Amino acid sequence: MKEIFEKVDFDHIEVDERWCFKNVRSTEQWTHGYHRYPAKFLPNIVKKLIEEYAIDDSMIADIFAGCGTTLVEAKIHGKPSIGVDINPVAKLITQVKIRPLLPMDLHIAYENLLNVFDTFNDADFRYNETHERIDYWFRPQEKVKIAFLYKVISDIDETDFRDFFLVCLSNILKNSSRWLQSSTKPQIDSNKIPSEPFEAFKLHCKKMIKQNASYYKELHSKGFLNTSCQIKLQDARNTSLPSDTIGTIITSPPYVTSYEYADIHQLTGYWFDYIENLSLFRKEFIGTFYSNSQVTETTSSIGQEIIDDLVVKEKRKACEVANYFNDMYNVGKEMFRILKPGGHACIVIGNTMFKGVKIKSAEVFFEMLIDVGFSEEKIIKRSIPYKLIPAIRDKTTGKFTTLDNKNSKLVYPEEYILILKK
Ligand SMILES: C[S@@+](CC[C@H](N)C(=O)[O-])C[C@H]1O[C@@H](n2cnc3c(N)ncnc32)[C@H](O)[C@@H]1O
Repeated sequence: MKEIFEKVDFDHIEVDERWCFKNVRSTEQWTHGYHRYPAKFLPNIVKKLIEEYAIDDSMIADIFAGCGTTLVEAKIHGKPSIGVDINPVAKLITQVKIRPLLPMDLHIAYENLLNVFDTFNDADFRYNETHERIDYWFRPQEKVKIAFLYKVISDIDETDFRDFFLVCLSNILKNSSRWLQSSTKPQIDSNKIPSEPFEAFKLHCKKMIKQNASYYKELHSKGFLNTSCQIKLQDARNTSLPSDTIGTIITSPPYVTSYEYADIHQLTGYWFDYIENLSLFRKEFIGTFYSNSQVTETTSSIGQEIIDDLVVKEKRKACEVANYFNDMYNVGKEMFRILKPGGHACIVIGNTMFKGVKIKSAEVFFEMLIDVGFSEEKIIKRSIPYKLIPAIRDKTTGKFTTLDNKNSKLVYPEEYILILKK
């Protein structure tokens, strides 16, 4: 790390109310409500970042695109954009969210699909062979209906409509399964009565059709229907984006010790054949618990102090965090490579806590970004409205818990927006 690095005291940065959006109630505008996704961006943050930092017409990139919030907002602003994510479910959702469909054509495609519903005969699907994990997560009565939905949607020739309905199906899988509803961890709820798949599908489809109509209308009225926007299934540490081409990066990396995206999206992964081997699939995700790395060293001095504190508490967690920091160092280098000189990187990132050790990811990543060549422009601190706080851990066990547990500790009541310049 550069000797000249001057530590910024993140704890004493004042919360900037202009970035808190306390009164924002809905995150469902345009196509933002198509699919649930853990730790998705508040669209207002992206909107404000675009308006302040993407002032010319050069490309906006999100290299942890998730469900595509940055790309949808870029399109609404008439700015070309590109996204990258390692998760095929994220790619599918984003692909559908960025593509406005002519409302009349979509309406016809939906009516045609509903007509096929009448041909359902559960005997045709009762003995269908599916993945053993599908049998684990789904009761037979829901499973046959989902198998039918998957088959009739897959038979649609027109890719745009097929993908649109697949996203709808993907979004209802959790409700129609035995997965504990409030949990992002794979856990069976033996008392759950899953939603009836046909009704759940129709209900969600109607909502998506309405959102598509408002998105289409907005883009059409502004002349932005054909603004370039694409999503790639790639690794943020090593993208195919050419060097010095991106005007602004707006992104939010995965948290460490938090979500296992491969596990969270396994229902879609198994139904849509995206997962052959879950344990191999998991390893591609940055921030995963399953990296099995044995390394306890990192280049960041702040990061090393954190790892040393963690080694005493739990060696495996220390290795997981060290691996995360080292992956993020490579992400920092990739960001620097793809940005045009003078371009901005805007990174929304929070800290986490494990068994009393504060994992200061924001500080560590900031230190790394300076080391790879960026210069500091601004660090914004924002508080996260209570209902959007992504995860809460028990202070003693470190496990996920609920707010009514008296031992609970808020993990990210605040987060940072790091603005750096190449
Ligand atoms: C915090 S989420 C981003 C959410 C996004 N801002 C949104 O609004 O939906 C982090 C994302 O990083 C992705 N990810 C994890 N490891 C990755 C890797 N090696 N390369 C690219 N994306 C990765 C996850 O699949 C997840 O979608």
